[in-house]
Amino acid sequence: MSTAPLPANPDPAPGPHHVAIIMDGNGRWAKARGLPRVAGHRRGADAARRVVRGAGELGIPVLTLFAFSTENWARPADEVNDLMGLLRQYLRNELEELHRNGARLRVIGNRDGLAADIVCDIAEAERLTRANGRIYVNICVNYGARDEILQATRNLARQVAAGETKAEDIDESRFERELLTAGVPDPDLLIRTSGEQRISNFLLWQCAYAELVFVDALWPDFGKQHLEQAIAEFRRRERRYGGVGG
Ligand code: IPE
Ligand code: IPE
Ligand code: MG
Repeated sequence: MSTAPLPANPDPAPGPHHVAIIMDGNGRWAKARGLPRVAGHRRGADAARRVVRGAGELGIPVLTLFAFSTENWARPADEVNDLMGLLRQYLRNELEELHRNGARLRVIGNRDGLAADIVCDIAEAERLTRANGRIYVNICVNYGARDEILQATRNLARQVAAGETKAEDIDESRFERELLTAGVPDPDLLIRTSGEQRISNFLLWQCAYAELVFVDALWPDFGKQHLEQAIAEFRRRERRYGGVGG
């Protein structure tokens, strides 16, 4: 047995460096008030604005928000339309403030399923903010982790078939470069609101070592204090990466 010291903790800074959030509970928030689900989604969009601002103030370098999953197309058409309408509004109304605050916006997901005007707005928002670096804000829209992993696998298989890549050269970093999150560090803190404790097909590869924090608050009620509490919880955790800890 070697007596060499264990490798240094790969993540010695307090962090979190990348907070990912599954924004859940809009429908229940509305139902509890006898309101239509869209009212919950509207308040959910307000919460997203607050949290983006709060994350900037707290100095979080990367924030990723799950806004619409590949599975959410299964909802009634009216609700899908409402959600897409709110996304349109968000992209149009928030762009200026995001840009002014030094945010780089990136939309992660399969754009093929989105309306042409939304795809244009996304391209414009990404173009305008691409040189910003105070905070990276990623919004996952029509995103599904299995879909993303399959797409990456297909791309690599094509490259191998064409003789451009050797199968034995496909390591983790090569694989990551095929994911929609290429170039984005893995989340170290994953928060889900509304008391649900599941991943729902979000960032399956990237969250391999994320700390999971489940919060009872419904997303429309979530604010900067909840974010601070989740960060405090993250800092109490011992991250071991398979080692024995300290
Ligand atoms: C999150 O709230 C928004 C999306 C998933 C698009 P929900 O709409 O899932 O709210 P609940 O889970 O029904 O309360
Ligand atoms: C996950 O929430 C997707 C988003 C937050 C966008 P859902 O409400 O769709 O997840 P399930 O259906 O409860 O697993
Ligand atoms: Mg839900």
